[in-house]
Amino acid sequence: MSNAIQSVMHETRVFQPPKALVDTATISGLDAYRTLCKAIDDDFDGFWSKQATEQLEWLKPFTRVLDESDAPFYKWFDDGQLNVSANCLDKHVAAGKGEKTALIFESDDAKVTHVSYAELLTRVCRFANGIKALGYKKGDRAIIYMPMSVEAVVAMQACARLGITHSVVFGGFSAKSLQERIVDVGATLVITADEQVRGGKTIPLKPAVEDAFKMGGCDAVKKTIVYRRTGGKVNWDEARDVWMHDVEANQADTCEPVAVDAEHPLFILYTSGSTGKPKGVQHASAGYLLWALLTVKWTFDAKDSDVYWCTADVGWITGHTYITYGPLAAGLTQVVFEGVPTYPNASRFWEMIDRHKVTTFYTAPTAIRSLVKAADTNPDTHPKHFDLSSLRILGTVGEPINPEAWMWYYKEVGRERCPIVDTWWQTETGGHMITPLPGATPMKPGSCTLPLPGIAAAIVDEAGGDVEQGNGGFLVVKRPWPGMIRNIWGDPERFKSSYFPPELKGYYLAGDGAQRDSDGYFWIMGRIDDVLNVSGHRLGTMEVESALVSHELVAEAAVVGRPDDTTGEAVVAFVVLKGARPEGDEALAIAKTLRDWVGREIGPIAKPKDIRFGDNLPKTRSGKIMRRLLRVVAKGEEVTQDISTLENPAILEQLAKPI
Ligand code: WT7
Repeated sequence: MSNAIQSVMHETRVFQPPKALVDTATISGLDAYRTLCKAIDDDFDGFWSKQATEQLEWLKPFTRVLDESDAPFYKWFDDGQLNVSANCLDKHVAAGKGEKTALIFESDDAKVTHVSYAELLTRVCRFANGIKALGYKKGDRAIIYMPMSVEAVVAMQACARLGITHSVVFGGFSAKSLQERIVDVGATLVITADEQVRGGKTIPLKPAVEDAFKMGGCDAVKKTIVYRRTGGKVNWDEARDVWMHDVEANQADTCEPVAVDAEHPLFILYTSGSTGKPKGVQHASAGYLLWALLTVKWTFDAKDSDVYWCTADVGWITGHTYITYGPLAAGLTQVVFEGVPTYPNASRFWEMIDRHKVTTFYTAPTAIRSLVKAADTNPDTHPKHFDLSSLRILGTVGEPINPEAWMWYYKEVGRERCPIVDTWWQTETGGHMITPLPGATPMKPGSCTLPLPGIAAAIVDEAGGDVEQGNGGFLVVKRPWPGMIRNIWGDPERFKSSYFPPELKGYYLAGDGAQRDSDGYFWIMGRIDDVLNVSGHRLGTMEVESALVSHELVAEAAVVGRPDDTTGEAVVAFVVLKGARPEGDEALAIAKTLRDWVGREIGPIAKPKDIRFGDNLPKTRSGKIMRRLLRVVAKGEEVTQDISTLENPAILEQLAKPI
């Protein structure tokens, strides 16, 4: 562990939450936060029982709160039944909020559509009825491979309404990645679009689905439903393919929400781990929804008058919890954006905040860093040219935010009026875990500050013992929480060994290293496993290695991360070819071929930024690749570590030079 610890706790500046927010916040001031934490400690079951009763509408009330009898397979509220979509839509319509705008959709080319809660409910019902008419029912699994759109939200909510477990695959993933997920999840339905539009370009989706089918193993898929986004040309299989608008046509406007057990899998979302195969993170219905809703209320201090905007894609957990489920369960008005922050230019976010009078803005450090750079090179895109006075709260997610980017966000976007909630969490945690509360927590740039009430986050050593304050260690959570991962789809053994290793006393192991300062604030130091974070996207080094070695030219490959100013980390690949080590133009050409290959195998986000060819890789005498040396070489630094166990020291020099 100690190797990975660089001191991240230099920052001494502290920023107080603005008084106006403290005065009106749901959790107002640090004392209120502490009182709430204590209330949960004092009566854990009582607290969660009350929250689940008050925040959710049940079709059959629960009598049990947390069942730990089969730990770590925890169950929450498990004898209760509910419907997630009814809690996100019907509830608000029944409360007279049907006319309230649920979604403000802005397309890539800036066309704006408003969808009210009543309209969204009708669309979800019509689509759900159509899916039902095709023969699907509770317990089936659907893959959703769609662009950011009203239709993607409708598709997810329609699945939830019928008790169909969805697995959304990010539109940037390749046909191969899609095929692997279709097979692993056992999907019988695929919902996609003809094409997606981003940054003025169209990117095919339906053709990727066809390619995935051609790769085999997808025979269980009986229907492909296609949302017509662009009208671009697609192949059509009359028996299998059906347009989304035809599925919805002639369907009734109402659809009885299907009662599901609290623990019914709402969705499965694949994420990278430390082996080559992504893990299907399985989330439950009731506990997940409760955590999504509560964290929207706590972290974003949700108010009925808010215009909320999370810039994530529904293909990631952030888009699940903080677009499709949490904000809708909270009855908020939210912006859904199809495009990218830099099109038609890098002021797009600021223009949209101004146009829609956004109050709560949630984005990734990578986006902020790239917009800082853009404003430096093209001052016209600087946020100062826009009216951002509607903003109340800013948020970041996905990776550590460096203090410079934090300060810019705070000053130039928030005009020193808006707190920044630096939210630490993961696909597995379902929702926020460690984050400032906007009306309570003093902020330090670069720290995600304090755990949310009910979250027993701690830093421990290899034996699960608490480390001394100031020392680094493994970030763990000592007690279950309602939004937590329930299983790895089809692989309970991997679930136990990945997240609840026996030596850690049954604590949930997050996979991050962290430190705590004298105020108890958490500082995240990055992953302790072979997982990279590129632009806030999780990527397993082994996944990229497997993709590389599956190319016919490649004999061996090792992949490491290197710090990157914009993307946080960048992928660096060291490759040994079956033939001679290439040089000059040949090396450049093969590097391009391999980069494109990785793009096709996994998706463009996995393309190595830097590829270096060697006659061999640095190995110990027993043949183990010495990655820690590769990490140094990738950074362009001199190797000063002990290399006495290295079989072939000369190789380091060969690998030190970029091609
Ligand atoms: C990993 C989880 C959380 C939803 C999006 C990413 C890193 C996440 C922060 C933060 C420092 C962060 C961690 C974590 N991470 N948020 N605020 N500060 N690091 O979800 O793909 O499951 O990735 O992202 O390393 O383990 P994910």
